[in-house]
Amino acid sequence: MPQFNDTELTAAVIRSFDETPDPRVKFLLEELVKSLHDFVRRTDLTFGEWEYAIDFLTRVGQKCTPSRQEFILLSDVLGVSMLVDAVNHREREGATETTVLGPFYVGEHKPMPHGTDISANLQGDRMFVQSRVTDLAGKPLAGVPVDVWHADDEGYYDSQKPEYETQGPSSRARFITDADGRFFFRTILPCSYPIPTDGPVGEMILQTRRHPMRPAHVHFLVDAPGYEPLITHVFMEGDKYLDTDVVFGVKDELVSKIEKRTDATMPDGKPAATPWHLMTYEFRMRPGQGIAPKPMMAAVTEDA
Ligand code: BEZ
Ligand code: FE
Repeated sequence: MPQFNDTELTAAVIRSFDETPDPRVKFLLEELVKSLHDFVRRTDLTFGEWEYAIDFLTRVGQKCTPSRQEFILLSDVLGVSMLVDAVNHREREGATETTVLGPFYVGEHKPMPHGTDISANLQGDRMFVQSRVTDLAGKPLAGVPVDVWHADDEGYYDSQKPEYETQGPSSRARFITDADGRFFFRTILPCSYPIPTDGPVGEMILQTRRHPMRPAHVHFLVDAPGYEPLITHVFMEGDKYLDTDVVFGVKDELVSKIEKRTDATMPDGKPAATPWHLMTYEFRMRPGQGIAPKPMMAAVTEDA
C-alpha cells in the first residue's frame, strides 16, 4: 500500500492524470495540482483554514443564479480575470485595449436604431455616445454588432433590480454599425459603483479593508467577423476610483474625456435638454478569431 510524504504525494497525483486523452486538459490539471500543493506546503494550511476555504467556495457557488455570477466576481477581485486578459492580449498592435467582461453581461441585447435612448425612464444627466468601429488601418467596419451596457446613476445594473423580471432590460442594447462603421445612442451618465457586497466576495472585500468601488464606465462588446472579439469599457476621466478599481480593470487608453455641452441640439441634429454630455470613442479591431461570450441569461435559455 503506497504511503507518500508531502512531495511524493504531489508526484503521485500528477501521475494519476497520465492517461488523460486531451494533452491540454492533462497539462492544466498537472499545473493546477502543483500550484495548489505548493500553496498548502508554503502556508502550512491548517484544517480550520481548509474548512473555511471549502465553506467560502460553497457559498460562492450558492450565491450564483441565472442573473448573478459570484464566481466571475471572485475571479475579478482576485485579479485573475485581468491576468487571463493580459496573457491572451500580449500583442495589441494598435488595437483597442481590453478589460474585464464583469458579471453583468446577463440580459438580452436587443438591436436598436441609432440614436435610441437606452436609459428610457432613468433619472440622471443625459449623455450622447458616438463611436466608430475600424480595423487597425482606420478602415470603417460596417454591419458589426456592438453590445453596450452600463449601471444607472445609483450604480445598479438592470439585472440587479427586482423590476428586471417584469420590465426587462434597460441601459443595455445592441447597435449595428452603419456603412461608415458608426453607431450612436443616448443614455445617462453612469456613476462609480460598488460591486455587490451582499455575498461571500463582498464579505472578503470588506473584511480585508478594501473598498468595493469601480470607476464609472460603459461596457462595450464588439464582435466583428474576422476580428478578435473586443471586450472593453470606456471610463470617465476624472473619476476618483480610476487608480484603485476593485477589479484592476482600468487602462489609460480606455479613459475618455466626457465633454459637458450646452448646444441646443445633439450630434444627430435632434433637440437636447441642456446641459448634456458627449462621449466620443473609436474602437480599433485586431484581425483574428474568437468566440464572443453570450449574455448569461440568453445562454441559459438556449441551453434549456
Ligand atoms: C462591471 O463592470 O460590471 C463589473 C466588473 C467586475 C466586477 C463587478 C462588476
Ligand atoms: Fe460595469
